[in-house]
Amino acid sequence: MDMRISVIGCGYLGAVHAACMAELGHEVVGLDVDEAKIAKLSQGIAPFIEQGLPELLEKHVASGRLRFTTNPAEISEAQIHFIGVGTPQQQGRLGADMTYVNQAVATIIEHANPPQADKPVLVAGKSTVPVGTAEAIAADLAASGKDIILAWNPEFLREGYAVQDTLTPDRIVYGLPEDHAVGDVAKALLDECYATPLAAGTPLVVANYPTAELVKVAANSFLATKISFINAMAELCDATGGDVTRLAEAIGYDDRIGHKFLGAGIGFGGGCLPKDIRAFMARAGELGVDQALTFLREVDTINLRRRDHAINLAEEAVGGRLVGKKIAVLGITFKPDTDDLRDSPALDIASRLWARGAELAIVDPAAGHILRERRPDLTVPETVEEALDGADVVMLLTPWKEYTQLDPAEILPLVDTPNIIDGRNVLNPQQWADAGWTYYGMGRGVATW
Ligand code: UGA
Repeated sequence: MDMRISVIGCGYLGAVHAACMAELGHEVVGLDVDEAKIAKLSQGIAPFIEQGLPELLEKHVASGRLRFTTNPAEISEAQIHFIGVGTPQQQGRLGADMTYVNQAVATIIEHANPPQADKPVLVAGKSTVPVGTAEAIAADLAASGKDIILAWNPEFLREGYAVQDTLTPDRIVYGLPEDHAVGDVAKALLDECYATPLAAGTPLVVANYPTAELVKVAANSFLATKISFINAMAELCDATGGDVTRLAEAIGYDDRIGHKFLGAGIGFGGGCLPKDIRAFMARAGELGVDQALTFLREVDTINLRRRDHAINLAEEAVGGRLVGKKIAVLGITFKPDTDDLRDSPALDIASRLWARGAELAIVDPAAGHILRERRPDLTVPETVEEALDGADVVMLLTPWKEYTQLDPAEILPLVDTPNIIDGRNVLNPQQWADAGWTYYGMGRGVATW
């Protein structure tokens, strides 16, 4: 049955969630304070790159099932209010900035219609928050006198696959209030909302608030740890002549380990993994259990060291000083299939190379125009050929298929000195070496086996 739903926050999470809820048959209003973003969404245009999102926006804005607004009064009729705002890292601290979550709660308290006997109202938190937040929000809702119920319902979407991950998730988690009578009402509303994926057999995990909050940060911490683990192995491979890609392949055949998220390279970035592990450590400190997460400090350190290593490789490739050396940077987003530059390892490396006097030419299939706007100091040509022209070093930092499929023999005449740094270990070292390039991998050389 279709429900009336509001989604507070229309960024990478909220806009996708709103469009997917419309696709599941609900009547949805998305609210955000950013007028430019809302203007675009209201015309059915995606304000960022996300596979499948433009089609859903176009379809459901046209049908009238999905609308976007900056006017908070328009959320009043909704039966479920999803909180999908950002929780970025605080300036100068490890903890999460909760300003937007707090504003979203205040907006709901002010504008949501109070529940009727036959029509309960639910707030469902999706934002990634420090454990303990749900309990505090539930207290605020109770104090408002509106009798609105709270559930915590974390999301696990990956940018680039966000639509697919929302419509066909690999699991759904409900964090419910301790009072089972109230919790049952919340569960019934969420079950109705997610009727389609639940009917398709999506596993459902029902837990209390802290568990649901922890599930999210635990999952991201595990993923970050897996990446830093393989990057630590890359350091060992560099020290011994091993090949980390072979190593990852071999250990990944063990089902208990698996092949996913064992890609060594310049490490993880983006708007989630780095800030989530830091906020988790900060929260553990507040709770007096910081020792439990000390290992995450090492995970973060290993990750950041990868960026230093990429810079060292560039220096090695040019034989020392970077001043005046021309470096072609291929890919600047934090991963392919997105235009997101938040905490991008590629952008960090490029910025530091620039600060050391290198002459950069950066290309990216999705974020070139964004970079030109935000960083007018950087050179961002239109084509990969222009970027490669006269380069002393080529650095592949984001594995867009446009760049991983480059033919080393074909592009060789464009560069000045054929040095390739494969920041994501996605090229065939032998093929590049055979074509005349000096290949630098991240924990792999040109191995004969
Ligand atoms: C991550 C999680 O994967 C999602 O499950 C989660 O829902 C999301 O954060 C979130 O909290 O909202 P996302 O930030 O889109 O998703 O990016 P990932 O695909 O996890 O990649 C993160 C970074 O790790 C990228 O910079 C990527 O290049 C890097 N990475 C990934 C590696 O260096 N090696 C790998 O093997 C895999």
